Formats: sequence, C-alpha cells, structure tokens
Amino acid sequence: MAPDTAVPQPPGDWRSYDSVADAYADVVTLRNAIMTGDLVALVAPRFGGHVLDVGAGAGAAAKAALSATGREGLVAAVDPSFVLVRRVEPRDRIKLAVAVAAGLPFRPASFDAVVASLVLNHVPDYRAALAEMVTAWGVLGDAPPVDDRAEQTAYETWMDIASEHVPPEAMDTAAHEVLPWEEWFSDPARLRAALDEAGVQHVELTGRAYRSMTSHKEWLSSVNTGAKARYLRDTIGPDAWTRFCDQVLERLHHTVPQPFDRVAQMLFAVGSTGGRRRRG
Ligand SMILES: C[S@@+](CC[C@H](N)C(=O)[O-])C[C@H]1O[C@@H](n2cnc3c(N)ncnc32)[C@H](O)[C@@H]1O
Repeated sequence: MAPDTAVPQPPGDWRSYDSVADAYADVVTLRNAIMTGDLVALVAPRFGGHVLDVGAGAGAAAKAALSATGREGLVAAVDPSFVLVRRVEPRDRIKLAVAVAAGLPFRPASFDAVVASLVLNHVPDYRAALAEMVTAWGVLGDAPPVDDRAEQTAYETWMDIASEHVPPEAMDTAAHEVLPWEEWFSDPARLRAALDEAGVQHVELTGRAYRSMTSHKEWLSSVNTGAKARYLRDTIGPDAWTRFCDQVLERLHHTVPQPFDRVAQMLFAVGSTGGRRRRG
C-alpha cells in the first residue's frame, strides 16, 4: 500500500483545492465533521478494520474512521491536493497518499470499507473511480459484522449474581413497571403503527448499530443505571449493593475479555406532520 508520490494537479492549478486548503481545513472540514461522522457510523467499520477515505480533503471521514476502528485499525486518506492531505490529523496514525480516483495506489481487496464524502461529483470518470473503489474494497478479517457475545456473557454474569439477591421475576416486574412498552416497541411494525395512529406521515424506519469498546467497570456503571439495577440496589441496601458490584467485577474478570465490544442496536423512526404548523 505504498503512497503514490505523483502530484496529479500541477501546483497553482485553480482546479485544485490547494489554494484554499487552509480555509477548507479550518472552516469547511469542521462544519462537515458531523456529516462525515454520520457516514462512518452508517458504514460501521469493525474494530481493527481497514478503511480508505477517497478524496479525503483534510480527513474528516478518515478521522471518524480512525476512532471507529480503534487502536488496531488502519485508515488511509487519499486526495489529489497535496496541501490538503498535509492537513489530515493525526498524521502519524493515518496513511496518506496524493492520488486521484481512478488511479488509486492500492491492491485489490485492501480495505473492509471505502468512503468518499462529497467527492464523486468532482471526478471526470466517476464510473472508473467507483469500479476502482469497489476493487479496493474486500472483506478482511473474520470478525462478524455485529458481535455482542461478550456483552451477552457479561449480562448473564450480572443476572446470575443479581438472582442470588432477589428473584429474577421480581426484577422483571420492576422493569416492566418503569418500561411498560420495552418489548412492544422492539418490533418496528408496532413503532410504525403507533406513529401512524398519532397522525405522523411518511414514516421511515432505519436501523443502526453503534459499536463501542468498554472496560468491565464502565460497562457495570452503565448497566447499573438500568431499571433492574435500580430496583436491586433499593431492595438490598448499600452494603449488599457494594458487595454485589465487587462480586460482578470479580466474576467478569474470569468470564469476559477486557476491553470488550458493545453494540447498541437502535431503531429510528422519522416522519412528518404533512405540513401542519404549530399555532400561537
Ligand atoms: C468537497 S471536497 C471533500 C473533502 C472531504 N471528503 C470532506 O468531506 O470534507 C472534495 C475533495 O475531492 C477531491 N477530489 C477531486 N477530484 C478527485 C478525484 N478524481 N479523486 C479523488 N479525489 C478527488 C478534492 O481534492 C477535494 O479534497
């Protein structure tokens, strides 16, 4: 994956972003960060994955891909503008190349994911560029796209120990009291029906998976904010609660690697009121 050192546009060419690189990097890239973050979230590259950002500019998407793929990940950013490529940060962690699509300096199947944000409209032969991006994109590694086994084991561990303190049915009843529609709305059809009933039109449903890495302690703090945990804490009192938390951490040490992957699966429902305006 050697970088191509050829500068595809001669210095001083008005077609290049070179002459506006500072403004692009300081103003536009910052403004685009949320959008490029969304793009990478949609792609959801795996931890340790290899991601290529084509037409990376100052590297907004590359930066998001770097945090998505973690310490073991590999991110490459290519752009014809040498001056923009120099603004990509962090430069020591992202592989940089000055190149155009088509003409990318990568072997086939070098990446798990390829992104190109606000780029295709610039490319004279977009078909050739897309074909090349598809070629650079392969499936590397053997991690399944969504793997929540570690978290499931952690949760089973938590439940096993909690059940030594209070009956699991009592925790179910408590959770149902504060989350009466938890099960119901896990079915997308019911979510759509509820919004239809409320008069929301053109409802679109989208599922997304958000990955993160967590330590045992951080995971426990977050699970302990849930309804079952609040009920348990209230029922057993502060001393038993402290012992319970210590017990969970001790058992996790033997059952779950650290850090481990968490996958939050979300369902978004978006619609409109069909043009009705708020009164007053
Ligand atoms: C609007 S900027 C987008 C930069 C960045 N992806 C972002 O979202 O902020 C378009 C980028 O495409 C690059 N570009 C133009 N023609 C290209 C080509 N044929 N291949 C790859 N990149 C190209 C430009 O140098 C520029 O950095």
